[in-house]
Parts: sequence; C-alpha cells; structure tokens
Amino acid sequence: MTVAQYSAEKKQALKVQPLKRNFSLDAIYPSFKVQPNIGTEFKEGIQIRDLIRAPNADELLLDLAVLISERNVVFLRNQDISFEEQKEFIDRLGKLTGKPSTSGLHIHPVTNPESELGLEALTISSENGKKTGQVYGAGTEFASRGWHSDITFEPVPSDYAILRLREVPPEGGDTLWANSYEVYERLSPAFQKFLEGLTATHSGDNFKLLEKAGYRKIIAGPRGAPEDVGTDLTAVHPVIRTNPVTGWKSVFAGSGFTRRINELSKDESDVVLKHLIDLVVQNHDLQVRYRWGKHDVAIWDNRSAFHTATTDFDADTILRIGERATSLGERPYFDPNSSSRREALGIAPPAARRAHLASLNKSA
Ligand SMILES: [Fe+2]
Repeated sequence: MTVAQYSAEKKQALKVQPLKRNFSLDAIYPSFKVQPNIGTEFKEGIQIRDLIRAPNADELLLDLAVLISERNVVFLRNQDISFEEQKEFIDRLGKLTGKPSTSGLHIHPVTNPESELGLEALTISSENGKKTGQVYGAGTEFASRGWHSDITFEPVPSDYAILRLREVPPEGGDTLWANSYEVYERLSPAFQKFLEGLTATHSGDNFKLLEKAGYRKIIAGPRGAPEDVGTDLTAVHPVIRTNPVTGWKSVFAGSGFTRRINELSKDESDVVLKHLIDLVVQNHDLQVRYRWGKHDVAIWDNRSAFHTATTDFDADTILRIGERATSLGERPYFDPNSSSRREALGIAPPAARRAHLASLNKSA
C-alpha cells in the first residue's frame, strides 16, 4: 500500500475531515520555514488588514489557518492593525476551520476589567509581570518551567491565538514555541498507545493566588464559551489529542497548567509528566525561538504547540507590552483513527526511533 493510499484510508474513518491548504497565499506573499520542524515567517509586505479586507478573504484566511496548524506558529513582521482587527482576524481563523458556533474569543479570568481594549484583550506586560511575580514568589531557577499551552484550565480551550507586541526590549524578551505533534513522535509506539485514551487534569490555580492577594478578582464568565464558566478553573483533557484541522495527534499534557494524569497514581503521573515536559524542553530541534521587532505578530495553534516567554531583560527599566486575542476552539478529543504528523506526511520517524525499531526487528 502506498503512503497516499494509506492516508486516504485513514482519513475516511476520521471524526473530522482534515483541511488542506489551498496555497492562495503563496502566489502573493513569499514565506520561509524558520526551522525544519516548526515555524513559518512571511517576508515583509503581508498585512493582516489587507487579508481580512480582500475580496477573497475567506480563501486567504483559510489557507493561513491551515498553514498555522501545520507549522504550529507563523510570524508576520511590523503589522499595522488595531486590536479590533486582531480580534476579527483570529475569530475568523477559528470559524473558517470549523470551530463550534458557541466558541468566541476568550475572556481571561484575571484580565483587567478596566482595559480600554475590552475584556477580550489579554495584555502581556512586563509591568504586570512584576506585580504577579511578587504574588507567585521567588519561583524557580529553571526558565524552562514557563512552557505551556494557553488557558488549558478551560473546558473549551484555545484553537488559535495572536500576539502583537507594541513595546519590545532592544534585546531579549524572545518567545519560544515547541511542536507538540513532534513531541508525540519522540515516544515509542508502546508509550504512545499507553498514553492514548488517558486524561489529565489542568488547573489555573495560580490565578486564584492573584485573587487571594487582592490583585484581581476571577471573572466567573462565561469567558467566551458557555462551557468556560465558574471560578474553579479546572478542566480534564485527553493526554493525546487530535487536531481537527490537520488530523494529526499531539501531546496535550506535561507542562503549564497540567497537574495530574488521572488514571495513574500520583507517583506514576509525576514520572510521566516529567518525561513529557523533558521531551519539550530538551529537544531544541522541535523548537523555534523568535526575536520580536516592534509591532510584530505571532499566530499559533494552541492545540499543537507549547510556548514560553524569556524574561532576560530588566523589567524595572525596559518595557515589553502587547495584546493577545485568543480564539476558543472545540472541546479537545482524541480520535483513534488519526495519524501522527510524520505518518500523514510520509516522513520517516526521528533517527533515534528508526534505530530503536530496527534493533527490535533484528532481535525478533
Ligand atoms: Fe501563553
């Protein structure tokens, strides 16, 4: 059976049919892969405002959405857009790729209710970071602890998010993203099978500390979707999830808000979660690091990417400020008929896996 025949057979049985790129962007706007495994950057010239106002806007935005889901994160430099346009853009990406009609834009539980940009604006600010840092305490000497996928404490978490920075440090303040389809590829077939069907509890308990300290009151919601309500900030999600846009499996646990794999003992869960986060942190070949310019934009698929900020600049003297708009997607699910990314694309497994599988065949 050829790879094409195998992929076609698999797709037949999928709960949600994956979407294909229509390549309408490529004809107008050149782009390049920032790293082989993750990240695409468009060359100067593309403007989100032009895309959302184009006569064939739906075609262009659908193409961009599929590209983001395939490449995990896309970078656009020097964007002249308002926050209202930022919101419209990210909501349309979700809608064009089939998110439920009840899923809108997220209202963060500790967003600033007085922000002139409205409740759907999450301000990423070094000033705020100083205040929240005081509440969270000294923290850790491992910068790698910052890896997360946004708002996974919500029953309906994010599909796409867009961040635009309007104040950037002269150096530092980079953001890193990791490809969580590729994290799945770094697991042995036996371990993949073991994790498929398991669930993890995610919690936004840190935000409760902010409320306790009197910094912010938790917004009880609904926070952009009818499912995202209450002040508990806890959700249960599959450890391996299927991205409906690509049909590929990714690891959706291990970092950030993940607290426990429910079907395992606490000790077992700790070991497995540590391994999953190690795969993210220690495999720099599935990461991309972006150096921000003023008004640059990053758009990522939160279902299939982890990310982390870098706080290597002096927040007392240097500002780093921007706004994130966060689209809400579907309730995460695992489709047993979905494929790994490499399987779907006909790419060989990572080198270490190939060697491992070859050694098994030899000893059989
Ligand atoms: Fe984030």
